[in-house]
Amino acid sequence: VTTTTTRATDPLQLAADSPFAGFVGVGVGIDVHNDQPDWRRLLRERGKIPFDFFEVYTRGDVAGAHAVRKAAGTLPLLYHDDDLDPIVPGAPDAKALAAARENLAAVGAPWCVSELATRRLGARYLDFFQPILLTEEAARVAAENLQRIDAALPGRIVAENPPYQLPVGPLHVLEVMARAIDLANVACVLDLGHLFSFQLCKGLPPLTGLDAFPLERIVELHVAGAELDDRWGPALYRDAHGAADIAPEVLEMLGEVAPRCPNLRVVTIEVEEASVERVRQQLEQTRAAVRPLLERRPRAARG
Ligand SMILES: [Fe+2]
Repeated sequence: VTTTTTRATDPLQLAADSPFAGFVGVGVGIDVHNDQPDWRRLLRERGKIPFDFFEVYTRGDVAGAHAVRKAAGTLPLLYHDDDLDPIVPGAPDAKALAAARENLAAVGAPWCVSELATRRLGARYLDFFQPILLTEEAARVAAENLQRIDAALPGRIVAENPPYQLPVGPLHVLEVMARAIDLANVACVLDLGHLFSFQLCKGLPPLTGLDAFPLERIVELHVAGAELDDRWGPALYRDAHGAADIAPEVLEMLGEVAPRCPNLRVVTIEVEEASVERVRQQLEQTRAAVRPLLERRPRAARG
């Protein structure tokens, strides 16, 4: 494999009539089980709240997946899983895979987002993500699992970089991510808040490592609200999703990174727990950061 061929190639290979065949715009990540934001209200007020798609979290509940597909009409939908454990050797388990398959089909999404992280410690289920170890071996394990998942799903698996508060291992998170997705030959989501969390831990500028990263594999960018906690020295980035504002640094990263990704399809704001008012405000900020890309879309796609 030569880098010249992989660089130019679209890693998703979607059909030309897919709603995600080109750049779609800015959408919101919602949890169908949350009261806030009320996703049905967002759908009703879509004329006033300018989002271009939903990324749906169902926690594996296929009834929720069907409900949102039915209510969303022609709105394009993506699916975010959190149970596939692609960093655990020998994962995923058959039940998690079956649930992902069923939910992805019910939502009708062309790809399924999965973080390179796990919530499991042996038999215990944790309330927080353990991110991928920053080693070659961890990248290989993740790649094997991503391939298995990719082969088993009705759409593509797309890997997301997880958040860090205590990075373990010698590699940069972008090196581990690049190795895993290259070996598995899959696309990725770059979560800019998560990337920022890693750089803060290491005392690095926000975009360190990006020049060497295969940007053509990025099909989706994430931003989300967060709290920066510097009470004990170096700032820690705490993902708060809709419960906090998006850090200005992250919006700046978005403005710089988005135009550099030739296969970018969507920018997703993860807004679980946000009020409708905050969703509206974050959409405004995020759209402003990628304004040139939004304006370049064909007129019919601009809504
Ligand atoms: Fe994310």
